[in-house]
Amino acid sequence: MTTFDTDLLVVGAGAAGLVTALTARGRRVSILHAGGTASELAQGGIAAAVGDDDTPQLHAADTRAAGHRCNDDRAVHFACGHALDAIKWLEALGVIFARTHDGRWSVHLEAAHSRARVLHADGDATGAAIMRVLRERLAEAPHVELLPSMRARALLQDTSGIQGVTAVSSAGSPVMVRARDVVLATGGLGGLYSRTTNPLEACGDGLAIALAAGARCDSLAAVQFHPTALDVDTRPLPLISEALRGAGARLIDAAGKYIMHGVHPLGDLAPRDVVASVVYAEQLAGRRVWLDATGLQATDVAHSFPTAYRHCREHGIDPDREPIGVTCAAHYHMGGISVDLDGRTSLPRLWAVGEVACTGLHGRNRLASNSLLEAVTFGRRLGQVLGDARGGPPEVGKLDPLAIHDERIDDELHQLMWRCLGPLRTAASLTEGIATLTTWRARLSRRTDSQAPHLQLVESMLRAAMQDIARLVRSRRIAS
Ligand code: SIN
Repeated sequence: MTTFDTDLLVVGAGAAGLVTALTARGRRVSILHAGGTASELAQGGIAAAVGDDDTPQLHAADTRAAGHRCNDDRAVHFACGHALDAIKWLEALGVIFARTHDGRWSVHLEAAHSRARVLHADGDATGAAIMRVLRERLAEAPHVELLPSMRARALLQDTSGIQGVTAVSSAGSPVMVRARDVVLATGGLGGLYSRTTNPLEACGDGLAIALAAGARCDSLAAVQFHPTALDVDTRPLPLISEALRGAGARLIDAAGKYIMHGVHPLGDLAPRDVVASVVYAEQLAGRRVWLDATGLQATDVAHSFPTAYRHCREHGIDPDREPIGVTCAAHYHMGGISVDLDGRTSLPRLWAVGEVACTGLHGRNRLASNSLLEAVTFGRRLGQVLGDARGGPPEVGKLDPLAIHDERIDDELHQLMWRCLGPLRTAASLTEGIATLTTWRARLSRRTDSQAPHLQLVESMLRAAMQDIARLVRSRRIAS
């Protein structure tokens, strides 16, 4: 097996991984990546309390309310309190956030925000704009190198902690990368679902291998579903940004009736989980749901939301003239590897940042546009912590790399995820899912297989969802 040694290995090349790598000056950083990242696709933007009518405290209050107050207060305080710094830092790197004629940042309204506080760069292609600048700065950073595309398959571990990863190159050859510290920044797991807005590479790799190595994880069943993915037959599904609803677009049924009417005081801008559950209930009842953006006057869809507009046009829809068919889709994982504010996991020398990590910032439901914020604020903090730590070549003990038989996660698993861990979960479907997983895992346990960590992850998610249902039933009993 090819072996490669480095000082600090960052697994994942989305915003969180790149910010960490860029900030960890003083270390020799290698970035291992599998391809597409959700950061690149982020349309909504990045949330920061920059308006005269806004404060970090209001942003924090909205973050907690959207998260059903299950958030970690220190994480909320840290992210909302450092949002302005993050925007200034990104601007200093070269990101151009849209400004009004008088030079202030232009801010947009999104669901469950009590103030307009979402900043955009390149219209609704904010993630791509940020990623472009981060990549440009990384290309100039002498301490960082980008490894050829590879997928991490297992963590290397000895008695003193994590020592690197075993990966598979795009040509299918196994590679051992040994490192003094490993940062997992592999993103979320929407790619495990049949309906997702995530790039297919975001299929829980980092979380699965951390769980298999014994890292503590939290809120594994907490998946956010986006209510307005374009209802077409592709994987992933194109996202139609919530910012369109922020600008006045409305969710309607086939008869033109507003489906959010009377459901929540914020109507179409209710928290994302509320809107998604209404859209999904319509879909389960066999009714299609549409996003009507034809009434937007001040805002021209093509100009203000070029990405959403392009997605529509590519599928033959003219959003200025006709409603857009939408569907729920897996969008974001609030759960993940448990970390403290510095990104430290329960395993020595293993760190995690971004969507793969669970900082507690999002609670049970992420507030729109807080994910790029988390990537930048926590990525900078982790980069500083690691940059200040002692670097050098890895000090590895005896390692036993996993034999890898590379198999793709198949369609059956994607269907199971949607059926059992989708927007509607029942004890019966979870029981069915656990039974199926147990059979699959028993088949696999007879040999080492790269699918095994993912199946363990899905089984853990099913069990966590079952516990969530049991907790809900208990709390309802107590309340009645
Ligand atoms: C959106 O633009 O609707 C998504 C933004 C986000 O996920 O925060």
